[in-house]
Amino acid sequence: MPLCIEVDKKLAEMVIKELRSLKLLNEDYAIHRIGDRVLIPLKENAGSEITIGEFVFRVSACEVPERRRTRIKLPSLDVLGDVVIIRENVLGYWDPLELVEAIRQVYPRIKAIWVKELTIEEYRKPVLKLLWGEEKRDVFVKEHGLLFKVRLGEVYYNPRLSEEHHRIALLVNPGEVVVDLFSGIGGFAVHAVSQKPCLVVANDVNPIAYDLLLENIALNKKKLKGTIIPLNMDARDIPSVLREQSADRLIADLPMWSTEFTRVYSEVVKPGGVLHLYRLSRDAEVLREELMSVFQDWRLLTCRLVMEYAPRAGIFRCDLVKPKDV
Ligand SMILES: C[S@@+](CC[C@H](N)C(=O)[O-])C[C@H]1O[C@@H](n2cnc3c(N)ncnc32)[C@H](O)[C@@H]1O
Repeated sequence: MPLCIEVDKKLAEMVIKELRSLKLLNEDYAIHRIGDRVLIPLKENAGSEITIGEFVFRVSACEVPERRRTRIKLPSLDVLGDVVIIRENVLGYWDPLELVEAIRQVYPRIKAIWVKELTIEEYRKPVLKLLWGEEKRDVFVKEHGLLFKVRLGEVYYNPRLSEEHHRIALLVNPGEVVVDLFSGIGGFAVHAVSQKPCLVVANDVNPIAYDLLLENIALNKKKLKGTIIPLNMDARDIPSVLREQSADRLIADLPMWSTEFTRVYSEVVKPGGVLHLYRLSRDAEVLREELMSVFQDWRLLTCRLVMEYAPRAGIFRCDLVKPKDV
C-alpha cells in the first residue's frame, strides 16, 4: 500500500506542485479525490510528516489506484498498418507476455504481433512467427499519402525506406525513363510516378511482389502522373527487353548483391545517366573504395547512409554517373 497525505481540495494544486518540486510525489499511483479531500501518493522516503508553508500533513498508508503507465519504453519495432513486427533478439531481454502487453498498451488497435526471425533467399522475404493475435498476412501501409498492400512473409517490405522512396522521387525529372531493377512491391516506382510525369520500368523476380506491384499501381492510380511498366523477370534479362542505353536513371536496391549486375547497368543506363546503387557496407569510405574499383569509368558522386542494418553495418546509397563518352 502506498503512502499518502490527505489535503483539502483547495490546497491540492499548490501541495502537488510543491511535492513534485521536492521529488516526493509518487507517480506510480493516481491522485485520488473523495468529496472535498484529496489523497496524494508519496514516495517511500517521505517521512512521517510533510510541512508545506504553514501546513503540516501527516503521512499514512492509503488505498489509491495504480496509475496506468502511458510512457512505456518499447524496443525498436516496425508498425505496418495494424500489425507490429519485432526482431527476434528482443525476446532475449523481454518476457513475451510483458512485451505483448506493453505493445498493446501503446498500439491498442493492432491485430497481430509478428517476430521476424530472418530474411531469406533472393526474394529477401522475412520468416515471421506469430507472437500474438490474428494470423493476418495482408496489410495496408501509407507512405506520404500513397497506399501500399504488403503480404507479410511473402515479399520484402521495410517501412523505414519510405523517406528514401520520397527522396528519390524528388530527384526524378519530368519525362525521364527510370528503371527500378529490384522494385519489390513498387515503393520507388509509385512514389516517382506520383511526383513527376515520367516512365518507370519496375521489375522484380518475385511473382508475389509483381502481383502486389500491379495492385499498388491500381490502388494509387488517381495520384499517378506518369506510367509504370511492371515486369517479373530476372534483372539479368532486362537488357533483352529494353532498348540499349535508354534509362536516364536506374535504381538498384539489392544491397547484398547490387555490384553483381554491372553488365546490366552498363547496357541499360544512357551516357550521362544516373545509377542509385544500394549497398551493404561497414562505412562510406570502405564502400567508395570498393565502388571505385568496380565502376572504374563511372563518376562516383556521393555515398550516404540510408539505414542501419546491424550493429556495425549500414545500407548506403551511392549515386554514380555514367560517363558521356561510352
Ligand atoms: C531490397 S528488396 C527491394 C525493395 C524495394 N526496392 C522497396 O523499396 O521496397 C530486393 C528485391 O530484389 C528482388 N530480386 C532479387 N534478385 C533479383 C533478380 N535477380 N532480379 C530481379 N529481382 C530480384 C527481390 O525479390 C526483392 O524484392
